[in-house]
Amino acid sequence: MTGEPVTDSDIRRDRARFIHGLPKAELHLHIEGTLEPEMMFALATRNGISLPYADVEAVRRAYVFDDLQSFLDVYYAGCAVLVTERDFYELTAAYLRRAAAQGVSHAEIFFDPQTHTDRGIPFDTVVTGICRALEDGQRRWSITWRLILCFLRHLSADAAMTTLEQALPFRNLIAAVGLDSSELGHPPSAFEAVFRRAREEGLLAVAHAGEEGPPEYIWEALEQLHVRRIDHGVRCWEDRLLVDRLLADRVPLTVCPLSNVKLGVFPDLAHHNLATLLRHGLRVTVNSDDPAYFGGYVADNMVAVAEALALDRGEIVQLARNSFLASFLDEAVKRERLSEVDHAATQGGWTAPQIPPARSSAG
Ligand code: ADE
Ligand code: ZN
Repeated sequence: MTGEPVTDSDIRRDRARFIHGLPKAELHLHIEGTLEPEMMFALATRNGISLPYADVEAVRRAYVFDDLQSFLDVYYAGCAVLVTERDFYELTAAYLRRAAAQGVSHAEIFFDPQTHTDRGIPFDTVVTGICRALEDGQRRWSITWRLILCFLRHLSADAAMTTLEQALPFRNLIAAVGLDSSELGHPPSAFEAVFRRAREEGLLAVAHAGEEGPPEYIWEALEQLHVRRIDHGVRCWEDRLLVDRLLADRVPLTVCPLSNVKLGVFPDLAHHNLATLLRHGLRVTVNSDDPAYFGGYVADNMVAVAEALALDRGEIVQLARNSFLASFLDEAVKRERLSEVDHAATQGGWTAPQIPPARSSAG
């Protein structure tokens, strides 16, 4: 002990170190959303594709979004540079390297096959490239993984069924199906048949709901798609009966704070309802969604939200525990991972946050 006063910046640094050191599972991560501008340019050059941006800085400047759709337009355009199995391998390997540095020890990764098959890229190319990298990542970084196939909800239910059929030869590589893309006007109920078929094949289910869409979409995802988790789900707070249902069934919410601010779901992090949901007892997890577009990977999201909402140490540890509790890991492995969290939580130097929230966390 030097007797020097502890400054806010000491506390911030210790809290960030503590968060990075906690083992975490990432449960809401679109692999296509990890395409950093540098890689976008390198792949465009390699594949002879022209981009509507002069350079990497121009790409970053273009990442200002009004809402989910304005982001999706940019995100789908960026996917055009992904062509070969090597491209999908390198994209996934680059994510895993970053995830390891952020303390991720388990990743459940979304991919959007229709974004690629609709451009003539074979399903096989996409899934093989991603899975080879995941296997190498498990060997190199000890990051266990599950793969989740997302149907694009702005396309038809028939197109989703065709995609599921294309996926069945790779059934052993895929843990679950999900539902993403433009939420408003595309309710989960439209996809009931394809989710039923997926469940008959032994696949688990998740769905984006309650990001921009109303609480009714969360009800539909639960009742009609039989999902195990809700991706985002932050609008559940508008419906007390729904909150009670999520609590009673311990349905996890894979919340993505930086994404929610970038896409205008909340005006800023200080107004995010994550702390409210967590303190109410919901099984909230923190995730990065599309980190190359939203400015941070999973630990960055936790650090930002912990600071903006004055989460205490116990709440941060709860978020890390929730990430494994909400995962699709086997129960025995889950228990091991939870004890790793508890062990890491006893090691950190950070004792308590002294920094008041920037604003009240109401909402
Ligand atoms: N696809 C990629 N990111 C998404 C998000 N945040 N919501 C819906 N679809 C997505
Ligand atoms: Zn998402």
